[in-house]
Amino acid sequence: MEEMQARFVERLMKDAASDPQACSTAFAPSNIALCKYWGKRDAILNLPVNSSLSISLGSLGTRTDVRRIDAPADAVHLNGLEVPAELPFARRLSGFLDLLRPWLGAGALEVDTRNTIPTAAGLASSASGFAALVLALDRLGGWGMDRRSLSMLARLGSGSAARSVYDGFVQWHAGHDPAGGDSFAERIDSEWPELRIGIVELCVEEKPVGSRDGMNRTAATSALYASWPAQAAADLDLLRNAIAERDFATLGRTAERNALAMHATMLAAWPPLLYFQPGTVEAIHRIQRLRADGLAVYLTIDAGPNPKLLFRSSDEPALRAAFAGLRVADPFGAASPA
Ligand code: PMV
Repeated sequence: MEEMQARFVERLMKDAASDPQACSTAFAPSNIALCKYWGKRDAILNLPVNSSLSISLGSLGTRTDVRRIDAPADAVHLNGLEVPAELPFARRLSGFLDLLRPWLGAGALEVDTRNTIPTAAGLASSASGFAALVLALDRLGGWGMDRRSLSMLARLGSGSAARSVYDGFVQWHAGHDPAGGDSFAERIDSEWPELRIGIVELCVEEKPVGSRDGMNRTAATSALYASWPAQAAADLDLLRNAIAERDFATLGRTAERNALAMHATMLAAWPPLLYFQPGTVEAIHRIQRLRADGLAVYLTIDAGPNPKLLFRSSDEPALRAAFAGLRVADPFGAASPA
């Protein structure tokens, strides 16, 4: 497994420059998929079955500081606390660093990662986490790599991280190459300043089944999964048109249907995957009622219990009134910290 990844990294890194620094820092935004990535055509290289499309969350994401240290092992900090080396978070991170260490000219590293969103609660913090790490490593090694290559490196850490190396709307091309060289994300050159994403924080606990296992189980056991790739392809086209034409109703409707279709494939898996909590279902009903009453609000939801709302800035007061404690992201607002 490591060998295939190592070969992929070797090919990617052959054009990298080298100007090693002592330390570096980078920020990457979290992203919310409007057309979801669900299913892998290659589990080792993290190659997706379908292309996906996301919106990055501006200043909500991860800041990562990396520093060379004279120590026998990496030191990992998450949100200010040291993470013991044997915990899965630290092991996954060090395993990823091992892939890139030959180009860093470094032994052990201290990695200090801080999320401005809850970790592992379906709010895609692994996406911003791996993207921020890759951006920081590019600066640490002085590689000067382009975003497309950095997107492919981030992809190895977590699929959705491929999209978090950009702001704004992003498309991750599934690609066809079995070696993974054409599966990268690209920014869609379009801004939509009125667009807002609301995060309904129902539950910040770790989810029982991570997305990686969830999508593998769905693809292997759900009869409904067969319909997913065509649904995703059609939705992606609709979303691209909706973005180009600033057609909010089509954007919202397509994103909501796409997310619920993904959950339908999970429900038909065995054992079934039910990420919804009672509060999730209550929130979905509330969103649908608000819409029936004339408010233009739609939802999307990842492999977790927390729905995200899609709406326009003029409706923000109404949605804050309907959802106490709603966290609102402004994807095209003040530039995110570099
Ligand atoms: O990047 P992963 O392996 O955490 O998978 C992400 C899967 C979803 O969040 C459910 C969908 C997506 O496209 O982000």
